[in-house]
Amino acid sequence: MLNISTLSQPQNLDQAHPQALAYSEFMADMQQALSLPRKSISPKHFYDARGSALFDRICALPEYYPTRTEVSILQSHAGDIGQRIGPDAEIVEFGAGSLHKVRLLLNALERPLRYVPLDISGDHLNASAEQLRGQFPKLQVLPLVADYTQPWALPAQVAGSGKRVGFFPGSTIGNFSPAEALQFLQTTAQALPGGALLLGADLIKHPAVLHAAYNDAQGVTAAFNLNVLERANRELGANFKLHQFDHSAFYNAPEQRIEMHLISNCRQTVHVGGVVFSFEAGESLHTENSYKFSIDGLQRLAKRAGLQPGPVWTDPQHWFCLQWLDIPLSISKSKETP
Ligand code: AVJ
Repeated sequence: MLNISTLSQPQNLDQAHPQALAYSEFMADMQQALSLPRKSISPKHFYDARGSALFDRICALPEYYPTRTEVSILQSHAGDIGQRIGPDAEIVEFGAGSLHKVRLLLNALERPLRYVPLDISGDHLNASAEQLRGQFPKLQVLPLVADYTQPWALPAQVAGSGKRVGFFPGSTIGNFSPAEALQFLQTTAQALPGGALLLGADLIKHPAVLHAAYNDAQGVTAAFNLNVLERANRELGANFKLHQFDHSAFYNAPEQRIEMHLISNCRQTVHVGGVVFSFEAGESLHTENSYKFSIDGLQRLAKRAGLQPGPVWTDPQHWFCLQWLDIPLSISKSKETP
């Protein structure tokens, strides 16, 4: 179907192909972002090799509670979760995520059959697939290069007898707008009929806790945010002066989301791919939204997409949840409930 290819061609655009650089998605998106009256770029561009390494450091920060909280939920409720999934399951993970989390999940299962990580980056996929093959010799590991925000389907040979369960941990769903999240759930339901989705979501909590998680004392989140400009300098030949931008992250309560911005601390111009863009002093480049959920709101969203909420597992403080969502065999249409 659409957007699926087997793992063979990593689509990295490197210095060896300067002509390809001009057409990179990152170039197009950055130029578009800087042309908007309210400058804004997708957070997916954070994750080059350095950005991914910085994100791994974020996950280990004392202030960044989501990762360790979700891991503790997986550990505390492994038995329950494993029973829900049942034997001979096929786990489809969205994004070649943390090996630690999927290992916890697989260890909770009886004879897991297959593990299918979906990611837009082939490199990332290959590395994690190899490691898992070593650790679970009986598990079929079938990485797929796919953009799971677009319609996708499992290749025919993946059809098995066990339960198909999507795994979307980390509250990555929080990067989507509510409309995109709904779309993602509908697309997932279409791709895994009769299966289920185990969805990790960060919960609404005291703004001070949220604020600290995105404004850590060591400045790792600031470095992660600024890396999108450094990446543009490296890959696009842009000339962002990093000290002329400040990290800003705050909780927007009415929108139920953390917003991350890079604020220009002076009036300045920047060159990207032969085009000049200007920033006023104090002007923002919006780099990320990270939505926070109530369990009720999450379940309502899932129902609108045609999924049926089952058990929800959470931590004692209710800071994070893992929500079980059953997928019917056929989704009539996009169901609208009041
Ligand atoms: C990977 C999207 C879940 O929103 O908490 C961490 C990314 N940004 N610190 C999040 C992130 C700043 C993270 N997600």
